[in-house]
Amino acid sequence: MERFEIDPDIHVAQTLPARIYSDPDMFRAQWESVFARTWHYAGHAGLVSVPGQVHPFVLMPGTLNEPLLLVRDTGDRIRCLSNVCTHRGTLVVEGPGHAQQLRCRYHGRRFTLDGRFHSMPEFEGTANFPSPKDDLPEVALGSWERFLLVALAPAMPIADVVAPLRARLGQLPFSALSFDQPGAREYVVSANWALYIDNYLEGFHIPYVHASLAQTLDYGEYAVELQRHGVLQLGIAKAGEPAFALPPAHRDHARRVAAYYFWLFPTTMFNVYPWGVSVNVVTPLAVDRTRVSFLPFVWDETKREQGAGGALDRVEREDEAVVEAVQRGVRSRLYDRGRYSPTREAGVHHFHRLLAEFMNHSMS
Ligand code: FES
Ligand SMILES: [Fe+2]
Repeated sequence: MERFEIDPDIHVAQTLPARIYSDPDMFRAQWESVFARTWHYAGHAGLVSVPGQVHPFVLMPGTLNEPLLLVRDTGDRIRCLSNVCTHRGTLVVEGPGHAQQLRCRYHGRRFTLDGRFHSMPEFEGTANFPSPKDDLPEVALGSWERFLLVALAPAMPIADVVAPLRARLGQLPFSALSFDQPGAREYVVSANWALYIDNYLEGFHIPYVHASLAQTLDYGEYAVELQRHGVLQLGIAKAGEPAFALPPAHRDHARRVAAYYFWLFPTTMFNVYPWGVSVNVVTPLAVDRTRVSFLPFVWDETKREQGAGGALDRVEREDEAVVEAVQRGVRSRLYDRGRYSPTREAGVHHFHRLLAEFMNHSMS
């Protein structure tokens, strides 16, 4: 397959070729080269709050389709294990609950909560058994505050990925967050996942697409900061509009920040508002279908419907409409690549560079 080149100089660079967003082979190539090698949101610590609590889930349904298990072991440590029995491969844990051991219901193999093989009936004559291969494989797990991220074969340490969040937001009251389950939303967008990310990574379209959001954010002050494996955008409040009250020692104290939009390559967004955190999880379902989950974690309900953090459903539907129109456009025979605005599309350029870097890696 070809290599993708995105010039590091945004002034001369061209955007990704359109087939990245529309060709099923390109999409398929991203499963191992991008999704398997990066960190993805897996849930929050409250899903497994006491030792023995288990929470099975599928990592990246539609692409990786990897059955995994979050478990808090007897040592009070959260782990992520393969949820596939090492005997004949059925799923070990079928639903969330509490357990002293993990027992496969097919033929009764047992594992301890840290994934180690414990016992198995009718295997007395089996040679070289058990071996470490009979343990449930453990998957890399990392966290930022209560948010858990997992990776199958990570190309970078989680500490590096979340370092900018830790450095920037350390003073905010994360221990007061509570998950608003009824407030969670899911959207299915008829567009490639990377088009959704492209759109997320620029505030350029805000005055054109989001009339209500444009009334509360100062377009001239909107800021983008690039990180090795992420992008931070800062929405700055217009005069009189709601913003964080940050302590004098905070580097953004003088800026009237209305929203921190943190994106972690490739699929995770932490949007931090004066009311709390909206975790957005992007799940690619097919080359032209993407699920987006909005998971609200609240520390101050009274600020919920204000400023840049209010009316999120309306903003999302406005974004969906434009992103779906782009999907129809990138199939055109008459369009291939575009150019970047150096002042407004540094985040999009950075994402394209990362996507090209990861996709090229698989071919090198
Ligand atoms: S598949 Fe699990 S015990 Fe046989
Ligand atoms: Fe938008």
